[in-house]
Amino acid sequence: MTLEGGEGSGKTTQALRLSQSLTAKGYDVLLTREPGGTVIAEQLRHILLRTDSTELLAPETEVLLILAARRQHVAHVIRPALKRGAIVICDRFSDSTFAYQGYGRGLDLKILRRMNDWATGHLSPHLTLLFDLPVAMGLRRRGTASDSNRLDREAGAFYTRVHAGFHALAKREPRRIVVVDARPSPDVVTAQMETLVFARLRRSHFKTDPKR
Ligand SMILES: Nc1ncnc2c1ncn2[C@@H]1O[C@H](COP(=O)(O)OP(=O)(O)O)[C@@H](O)[C@H]1O
Ligand SMILES: [Mg+2]
Repeated sequence: MTLEGGEGSGKTTQALRLSQSLTAKGYDVLLTREPGGTVIAEQLRHILLRTDSTELLAPETEVLLILAARRQHVAHVIRPALKRGAIVICDRFSDSTFAYQGYGRGLDLKILRRMNDWATGHLSPHLTLLFDLPVAMGLRRRGTASDSNRLDREAGAFYTRVHAGFHALAKREPRRIVVVDARPSPDVVTAQMETLVFARLRRSHFKTDPKR
């Protein structure tokens, strides 16, 4: 399953909590993030997020690096974990590429989908939680975080397009992408998220069982 949404929407906070509660329930859980998750993919992440370079990253280059990292991640981490029956929780995945590089930067979505399918071998999440937060609120939360990166320097209009893009994606695949209200306190968001995820698990959307 994947956690998606804008900057500061609480993905990383909630991904950790979800992995802890599923682990406590006895599930085999792999918590990972994009871009990253393998040594080479983390090196690509560094290139993608660095703020110390004067060379602009062309949008197409950005996509190629993201997909290169995703390929490594899928091949070496995600597929093997799914194969052994683990629940994979990934902090950002393909929908971020469509929202940021497609809707945000204006690259052709059809091309992005084809490239992404090629890079992932058509791997798609069983469930995607879209953490929904007004753009300004997310930027305020990010503003207090210490890990500022290249994308934080984008203008507000870019984030508005990304936010609308995530909603367009959710509308297109309402069964897979479930919107979670990210405005309340962390505990309230966790409760909403867990209700949703546990219900899906009971309806066995995942081919996995608790080990104990
Ligand atoms: N529900 C919440 N209410 C207020 N602040 C939050 C909430 N969830 C997370 N935060 C804070 O907002 C910042 C961004 O959260 P984070 O989980 O890193 O978001 P993301 O991974 O989506 O960028 C962090 O400082 C975090 O502690
Ligand atoms: Mg995060």
